[in-house]
Amino acid sequence: MIFWRVKSLKDILETAEKKSLNRSLGALQLTLLGVGAIIGTGIFVLTAEAAQKAGPGMMISFVLAGFVCAVAALCYSELSSMVPVSGSAYTYTYAVLGEVVAWMVGWALVLEYAVASSAVAVGWSGYFVGLLHSSFGIEIPSALANGPFAGGVINLPAVVISLLVTWLLVVGTRESATFNALLVAVKIAALTVFIGLAWPHVNLENFHPFLPLGSSGAVAAAASIFFAYVGFDAVSTAAEETRNPQRNVPIGLIGSLAICTVFYLLVSGGAIGAIGAQPLLDAQGQGFEPGSSQLAAQCQSLLAIGQEPLVCSREALALVMRQIGYDRFGNLIGLAAFLALPSVILMLLFGQTRIFFVMARDGLLPERLSTIHPRYKTPHVVTLITGVAVTLAAAFFPVGRLADVSNSGTLFAFFVVALAVMILRVREKDRHRPFKTPLVWLVGPLAMVGCATLFMFLPSEAQLVFPIWGSIGLLLYFGYGYRHSHLAQGIQGASGGEDLLREVRPLAELMKDPQDDQ
Ligand code: ALA
Repeated sequence: MIFWRVKSLKDILETAEKKSLNRSLGALQLTLLGVGAIIGTGIFVLTAEAAQKAGPGMMISFVLAGFVCAVAALCYSELSSMVPVSGSAYTYTYAVLGEVVAWMVGWALVLEYAVASSAVAVGWSGYFVGLLHSSFGIEIPSALANGPFAGGVINLPAVVISLLVTWLLVVGTRESATFNALLVAVKIAALTVFIGLAWPHVNLENFHPFLPLGSSGAVAAAASIFFAYVGFDAVSTAAEETRNPQRNVPIGLIGSLAICTVFYLLVSGGAIGAIGAQPLLDAQGQGFEPGSSQLAAQCQSLLAIGQEPLVCSREALALVMRQIGYDRFGNLIGLAAFLALPSVILMLLFGQTRIFFVMARDGLLPERLSTIHPRYKTPHVVTLITGVAVTLAAAFFPVGRLADVSNSGTLFAFFVVALAVMILRVREKDRHRPFKTPLVWLVGPLAMVGCATLFMFLPSEAQLVFPIWGSIGLLLYFGYGYRHSHLAQGIQGASGGEDLLREVRPLAELMKDPQDDQ
């Protein structure tokens, strides 16, 4: 029986009280944190991939993916308000399903956060290359701006941005609350301008055929576009640094998700209606696979005759603006993505180091990994290792494949969270729940079924990566974590890593304004 190592909720909460990180984030900051982490490559770039899978029906895909995230967010909210400590799904699972499942969830969150960082870096690269081309006439050779799957050799801009963000995290760069709010404003402004300019150009004929690849195309696109919503759980990872988390975390989670869903629907509707979103089909009438060299070749030949459909674009929203005659706004949207996407990478990578950190604090990873830099006071070793891995993935893989792999890990984590909420309702039914998932016996199963369904509609490589990654994780757990676990050794709660935790700059500090220091 491998599920016996369950951390008691009481221990977790006492530990959280004991080391008490500075609780300084409020509901508005949390919502902004959520929107800041959510809006990124998904809407700015993957809209093209979703169109290739679903055509105009991708609007349904946004609704489906948003729905699965909403029910998962409701489950997250109950757990994060009950257990307002760092570590997100990993910590909740430790308390409910025991160590080995918690390890697997933490391990899956690596896929979510680290691989997502790579995906966003590749997405950023597309906008950077487009911006250089259209604003300054500078052409980066295709071989150096694309990985091998997209017909190139290496994606150099993605390498540079990944290394830059890693370096920023190593030297302990803070993203101040003001700066975060500014970038959120830039993204919201860009999307609002897009909606305002695109909708008057909507031609209803562009919505036909609505589902050129059938309803399974729409579900497959939902499985990919799910990526556009990833990041809302960053709010729950900040629970330990939140004022009145019982009220503010659920507001932050659900609020940020709701804002993003509305924007995504309006943006995708505008893009489809303005320039059309039909997929490119092969001789058998099947859609080419996004991110494949066949699709890249097809797009190259269309480009050669002066055509660039939405599904070929690496900077989908800028393309729409340019095609309806707003070149300058196209460039401004490119500029907004150029400015704002790096902060998404920063948050995802930061989230990753924090998850590793909590796992090391519990003894499941070597504490050496969380060594704190004497001067910068950051966990530089784990940040560097993660940063190099993220950079390598960004250098060689296309954005859509990375996003799909990231989704596979995220869906697993959400599935387990939904299960955990229901188990706790039975096992600890009298425990105080500041936020209760409404209709939990409907919402919980819906979240589980939704996650499982989206997982099944992911491309087969992404489905395969997950069990391979999981097996490596299990080997590591039984080779290391199983023996070094603080819980197993009777080291109470987080006390083993408490010193480290005190020294690492908490998220609240990252978000603090410089003037707060004075
Ligand atoms: N949701 C984030 C994005 O779309 C990860 O970039």
